[in-house]
Amino acid sequence: MFNSPSVIVGLEIGTSKICAVVGEVNESDELNITGIGQCRSRGVRKGEIVDSGRAEEDIRVAIAEAEQMADVEIRSVYLGVTGSHIASLVNRGVHPVVSADREISNDDVEDAIKNAKAVRLPADNEILHATRHHFMVDGQEGIVDPVGMLGSRVEIDMHVIHGNINRLQNPIRSVKNLQLEVDSVVFNGLAAALSVLTPEQRRMGALVIDIGGGVTNYIVYGGGAIKHAGVLAVGGDHLTNDLAYGLKVPLKRAEQLKVDYGAALVTDSIRGQTVTTVAELGLPSKTINLEHLQHIMSLRVEEMFQLIEQEIAAAGLLNYLSAGVVLCGGASRVPRIQEAAERVFQLPVTLGRANSISGIKSALDQPEFATAIGLVRFGSFQEKRKPRATSLGSVIKETFFSFRRSMV
Ligand SMILES: Nc1ncnc2c1ncn2[C@@H]1O[C@H](COP(=O)(O)OP(=O)(O)OP(=O)(O)O)[C@@H](O)[C@H]1O
Ligand SMILES: [Mg+2]
Repeated sequence: MFNSPSVIVGLEIGTSKICAVVGEVNESDELNITGIGQCRSRGVRKGEIVDSGRAEEDIRVAIAEAEQMADVEIRSVYLGVTGSHIASLVNRGVHPVVSADREISNDDVEDAIKNAKAVRLPADNEILHATRHHFMVDGQEGIVDPVGMLGSRVEIDMHVIHGNINRLQNPIRSVKNLQLEVDSVVFNGLAAALSVLTPEQRRMGALVIDIGGGVTNYIVYGGGAIKHAGVLAVGGDHLTNDLAYGLKVPLKRAEQLKVDYGAALVTDSIRGQTVTTVAELGLPSKTINLEHLQHIMSLRVEEMFQLIEQEIAAAGLLNYLSAGVVLCGGASRVPRIQEAAERVFQLPVTLGRANSISGIKSALDQPEFATAIGLVRFGSFQEKRKPRATSLGSVIKETFFSFRRSMV
């Protein structure tokens, strides 16, 4: 069974935490966050489930907490997915206009779209999201509706986010094992963008980078449509690993040092400063040079941004980011990460906040909840698109696909 149409639930099965967010759409079509549940995640690595038993226990806790706070019974979720197998491509559909008068007909447009949809994916891959861009007629870009125009060639680009079908199925199975339905599967990077970008920023062109614990999702919007998306199998936990290795401290201590003293660039005022950790659980105390600590972090952060910058540059999109770069995810809390990103991208960088959404302020202000909140927003768009059901059967038919080809 599915939630009532006004109740929308987003579920992110993250590497650091499982997060369920409940939203309700009121009569004025406004989205209000009414509940949030979270649980430390124990069965996920690099954004994908590696221990389904533990992951399911943790999902159950997060869902129960969200149900209690929102005072609803959750029956279905918009499920966020990520992982290094997720990638994107653009497929161009080309159609020659053959009529004698060269007037573009409805059929010409349909054929161009059909060709764009004939995407060749790597073996075992499935489409998660397919987005149509504007049309081109004889090389003229940005055409909204070519029907009735004159031309000899109609073209359209289809942007596709895809992933390995088996790896996408794993989180779906875990959710279904808990007697919950999946309304739709959504790429986490897309959800994050829907949460932190305004429609104006999506039109102007922006890059959203969601830096989590195990992965970093990124997505480029331009002209209101998705232009590029991808996943780096590196996140905030790699900063912790680097510190543990570089400072020769256990992981738990490295995590604490990262949060207490970390920065994405070396801060002048800490040069020469040290901190001495207390001896505990058989571990001797240790004196840490803070410049060394921040230097280790700055190298990894710079490398992460450089990898994304190279990818965006290779896709020819760096000059289209008029609204700059927006960071979210738990690791966007690292001090001076904004400046570090500005140095690499040579663009203005801001820290993302969930916008145009009301409700529990403590959730809306946390960068690590941006993805789960964005899943709710995605759901609200989907619910709006659904034809008002005339029968229960049609509702089920409409929503039961695991991989709905959504046009966002
Ligand atoms: N104040 C902070 N300073 C530095 N890092 C932080 C801070 N708060 C959280 N983090 C880091 O953010 C990461 C967790 O982010 P988030 O909750 O967005 O991850 P997730 O969504 O569970 O994981 P993923 O999306 O990668 O599967 C961890 O690496 C954590 O150490
Ligand atoms: Mg995340």
